[in-house]
Amino acid sequence: MTRIPLSASGAGAIEAAYRARTPASAEAMTRARRYMVRGLTRGWGYHRPYPIVAERGDGPYLTDLDGNRYVDLANNGLSLIHGHAFPPVVDALRAAAGRGSGWLVGSQEQIELAQMLCERIAAFERVRFTNSGTESGMLAVKVARAATGRPAVLKAIDGFHGSYDDLEVGLYDRPEVPGRVYLAHFGDPESFERQLISHGDQIAAVVLEPLMFSGLVTVAPPGFLARVQEATKRAGALFVLDDCLMLRLAVGGSAERYSLEPDLTFLGKFVGGGMPMGVLGGRADVMDVLDPHREDPLYHGGSFNGNLLSCVASRVALEHFDASTIASMDALTASLREALEAHAASLGVPLTIVGEGSVLGVYVTDAPGRHDPATFNAGEPTRLLHLAALNHGVLMGPGGEIALSSVVAGEALEVARDGLLQALEDVAAAIAFSSPDERTRT
Ligand SMILES: Cc1ncc(COP(=O)(O)O)c(C=O)c1O
Repeated sequence: MTRIPLSASGAGAIEAAYRARTPASAEAMTRARRYMVRGLTRGWGYHRPYPIVAERGDGPYLTDLDGNRYVDLANNGLSLIHGHAFPPVVDALRAAAGRGSGWLVGSQEQIELAQMLCERIAAFERVRFTNSGTESGMLAVKVARAATGRPAVLKAIDGFHGSYDDLEVGLYDRPEVPGRVYLAHFGDPESFERQLISHGDQIAAVVLEPLMFSGLVTVAPPGFLARVQEATKRAGALFVLDDCLMLRLAVGGSAERYSLEPDLTFLGKFVGGGMPMGVLGGRADVMDVLDPHREDPLYHGGSFNGNLLSCVASRVALEHFDASTIASMDALTASLREALEAHAASLGVPLTIVGEGSVLGVYVTDAPGRHDPATFNAGEPTRLLHLAALNHGVLMGPGGEIALSSVVAGEALEVARDGLLQALEDVAAAIAFSSPDERTRT
């Protein structure tokens, strides 16, 4: 990543403006730090000097304790495809809540949702519900190990699949665990093929997010995914897609968008319609390792798996997430990208935008590299862009992440675009250009 010199006064002005706008958040975070580590209860979302504390969400907007309103382009880590308090989901939840929240036995809503997912996602013959993407990834690995009788997983370096030890290898500089987790380079099919040739008889599953989002947004080069899928199947391992985020790329998820045939796929995030939800789905003969009628079934617990409220919210959210919604989100994202690129060029700010569909990684650099592996920090200039965007009423991910929800359109999109353009101007003012005409040459 090329180092961009920042002037202390310019960077300080952005942070000072942030502090001046958010005194109530600052005070709440001071209190929060007394009870929660660094005042937070998850990793993603932290940034210096402190994150805002929200009071309410409403459609595309989030309001903080100081009454500042933000167009939300982070959407709870891409888990709200229709923004906040989506009225059809709220109505359905209200109607369902009086019937209870979850129970030991099934519900019609659970069956309906399972059917809907199997009809929507081509590779789904059977599903199991969980409560998060992390849990569904863990279950995918357990099922793959049980189905193949093999112990190991092969995944991409920097590939994020939730907070589970085996799927965190290759993140935070964690090295391979021989016999348990092997690593290869995303975008380099030969590195996967080599591992499958060397350790193929040990590898139960190859786990991939087809467009890597967390850390550094990385689009797969043409042919990469198909080649890895082929090598995986040749080795007798299962091809497992993590579609927690990328289900958004098509009605049938990334497998449809990239013409893949995964053996298993796991979902999380927005599939719950704003409620906690994870899904593992795939081939019936593979999922059957969970069948209690088998001699040696794989046990899978989870008190709130497929609970009534999550199933209701999920069904309604997915009903409203159709091909035309996806096409419109993708087109609006492309228009936002174009506006940012044009403005950055006119300001002389080195900006690189990576993404596809309705997701973007926006980095203030001409050469995005691997982020800080421990914190996913995309570098100081990108951190400043994020802070400046907050000052102008836009919440993006602290590492430069942007993902539209279906309700970021019309006025909200204009507010977001104008806020981001103004944020770019603040960042331009903070860059210490070494000569007056360097700005125009960049
Ligand atoms: C690609 C991917 N997979 C899995 C997960 C884990 O999902 P959850 O946060 O619901 O546990 C995440 C979370 O950010 C993710 O981005």
